[in-house]
Amino acid sequence: MPIPSDGHGLLAGKHGVIFGALDERSLAWQIAEACQREDATFVLSNAPVTRRFGSLEGLAEKTGSPIIYADATNDGELDALFDEVTSERGPVDFVVHSIGMGVNVRKDRPYEDLNHDWYLKTLDISAASLHRIVQAGLKQDALADGGSIVALSYIGAQRIFSKYSEMGDAKALLESIVRAFGYRLGKRGIRINSVSQSPTRTSAGSGITGFDAMFDFAEMLAPLGNADAASCADFVVTLLSDYTRMVTMQNLYHDGGFSTMGVSDHLVETLFGALGGDKGKDV
Ligand code: NAI
Repeated sequence: MPIPSDGHGLLAGKHGVIFGALDERSLAWQIAEACQREDATFVLSNAPVTRRFGSLEGLAEKTGSPIIYADATNDGELDALFDEVTSERGPVDFVVHSIGMGVNVRKDRPYEDLNHDWYLKTLDISAASLHRIVQAGLKQDALADGGSIVALSYIGAQRIFSKYSEMGDAKALLESIVRAFGYRLGKRGIRINSVSQSPTRTSAGSGITGFDAMFDFAEMLAPLGNADAASCADFVVTLLSDYTRMVTMQNLYHDGGFSTMGVSDHLVETLFGALGGDKGKDV
C-alpha cells in the first residue's frame, strides 16, 4: 500500500537537524521531505560554500524550516549551530548526517597514489564530521534523551569497489564512530545507526568515476533492484521514530538485498552475453 501523502505522523512532536541537502536529488533532501510528511520539524544545514551553488533555500521555503549554515569540519561553526538550535527550541530529538566527499576520487587520483592532505580532508568531511557533530551536540546540551541519530553509509566500508577508493576507508571509519558513540549514548536512550544505501544518482554519487557501472551492477544483482532516494528516506524515518527505539549501533543495509547476494541469473546472462558465449545456460 503506498504511503499516504500526509504520512502516518510517525515523527509528530519531534524536532531535529538534517545535514547535507544540496539539491532535489540529495538523500538528505528526500529525508527532509519525508520527515515533514511524518510531522517532524527541523533545521537544515549545509556547508556555507553551498550558498553559491546549492538550492537549500528552496527546500527551506517548501518545508518552512530555518537554515543554519555550518562547515561540518569546523567545531566552532557546529557549536554555534547547536547553540542557536537549542536556544530556539531546546534539545533535538534527531540528527541526520548525510555528508560525504571524496577529494581524491573527485580529482581522479588512484588509491595507490593518494594526495594525503586530500585523503585526510575526505576522512574529515565524510566520517570525522559525524564525531564532530555528536560531540558538539553533547557539549551544547543539544541532544534530547531518547533521541535518534542516523548517518548514511555504503557497502564500500565492508567490500572493495575499486573506484570507490578512499571513500571505502571513510565509510569504515564512519561506521566505527557509529558503534563507539552507540555505546556511550545508550545510557541516555539515544540511538545511533548507519544506513548503507544502494548507489543513488545524486551529486556525490555521480562524482565517482564508474558510478554508472556500480549502479547497473547492483541493479542486476539486488532481488528488489536498487533502492531509490525516496525509499531511503522512508527507511530513515522509521529509524528516527520511536518504533525502532531499541535499535542502535547497527549498520543497516537499505539496498534491495544486494549485500546478501552472490550472483544472479540476470548478471550471469548479461556477462556471458557480453563475452559472446552461451555458457550461462549451464549455470
Ligand atoms: P549529495 O552530494 O547530495 O550530499 C552530500 C552533501 O555533503 C552535500 O550536501 C554537500 O554539500 C555536503 N558536504 C560536503 N562537504 C561538507 C562540509 N564540509 N560540511 C557540511 N556539508 C558538507 O549526495 P548524497 O548522495 O545525497 O550523499 C549523502 C550521503 O549519502 C553521503 O554520506 C554519501 O556518501 C551517502 N551515500 C550516497 C550514495 C550514493 O550513491 N549517492 C550511496 C550510499 C551512501
